[in-house]
Amino acid sequence: MPITYEHIKTCKQTGARLGRVHTPHGSFDTPMFMPVGTLATVKTMSPEELEEMGAKIILSNTYHLWLRPGEDIVEEAGGLHKFMNWDGAILTDSGGFQVFSLSDLRDIEEQGVHFRNHISGEKLFLSPEKAIQIQNSLGSDIMMAFDECPPYPASHDYMKASVERTSRWAERCLAAHKRPEEQGLFGIVQGGEYEELRRQSARDLTSLDFSGYAVGGLSVGEPKDVMNKVLEFTTPLLPTNKPRYLMGVGSPDSLIDGAIRGIDMFDCVLPTRVARNGTCMTSNGRLVVRNAKYARDFGPLDENCGCHVCRNYSRAYIRHLIKANETFGFRLTTYHNLYFLLELMMQVREAIKEDRLGDFREEFFEQYGFNKP
Ligand code: GUN
Ligand code: ZN
Repeated sequence: MPITYEHIKTCKQTGARLGRVHTPHGSFDTPMFMPVGTLATVKTMSPEELEEMGAKIILSNTYHLWLRPGEDIVEEAGGLHKFMNWDGAILTDSGGFQVFSLSDLRDIEEQGVHFRNHISGEKLFLSPEKAIQIQNSLGSDIMMAFDECPPYPASHDYMKASVERTSRWAERCLAAHKRPEEQGLFGIVQGGEYEELRRQSARDLTSLDFSGYAVGGLSVGEPKDVMNKVLEFTTPLLPTNKPRYLMGVGSPDSLIDGAIRGIDMFDCVLPTRVARNGTCMTSNGRLVVRNAKYARDFGPLDENCGCHVCRNYSRAYIRHLIKANETFGFRLTTYHNLYFLLELMMQVREAIKEDRLGDFREEFFEQYGFNKP
């Protein structure tokens, strides 16, 4: 098995899991956050910087790499790891979500999805078989099944038909997988906010031999308490001896609340996207460093952060760079934000080890400002 999960302990205070996932490109401790590198690059960061900040696994996208440069070129380069010079683990999303979020012209059939290229307008077709073939060519350590992520809210009838189709697609993904010795494949549980449909989806998918399971269809516009409720009834339906991945979630509060509900892996564009807009995550909440009040602030982005950026650069300098549209400014905020989330996950793992994740949550929320009205 290319992907294995080693359970280390369960937090007595919350039920969160401390573990380790082993991949063909190294192991990582869980709960873990995965930086997003959509086009075979975590925007503005070099692989050396990612390694330095402690990233062990990054995410990339089937859909984008299929369109450019084309998975054949990546394969010819020797696979995605070699192509981008990243020797850590890589997870690729299947393209299902991207087709639904980036293309407004699409037509879902049993065979797959017809849609238009979001750049050129060209007609394209993505299916379970095609998504797996592309991911086999990319050579990611963890591939994702091709699923449908319906918008929120979706009717029960629509969601039921969608879940059933996603289950049939999941079987086709497993059958199409040509490199089961080298690459893991995760199934994705859908079902929206409907408990009975989440049960049905989890039952269908866990009857198949995936190397891990994701919870999809969340962080699509639903309130936070809906996401927490869905996780509460969904993660107990998943096997305890395989990793669990909550897709597209990366705000600090949701990482902690997800871990408490038994999630091991997370990814999100949030830290890198907001960084390029001059927004930083700090232990005292969000800080918009573009703001005029930082013009003469020569302190670090976060006085509690030990990252390279906080040890060497000031808010005033970073504000100046970002206001002047200088690339280096975006690099500094991106580095800090990713370090902040990776460090947060490390603190979560320490708290699980010591059976105090509930206390940690309270303290973190208080300082971050989530408890304020
Ligand atoms: N990214 C965020 N949510 C999802 C989802 O439901 N499915 C897939 N494939 N990717 C996602
Ligand atoms: Zn920092």
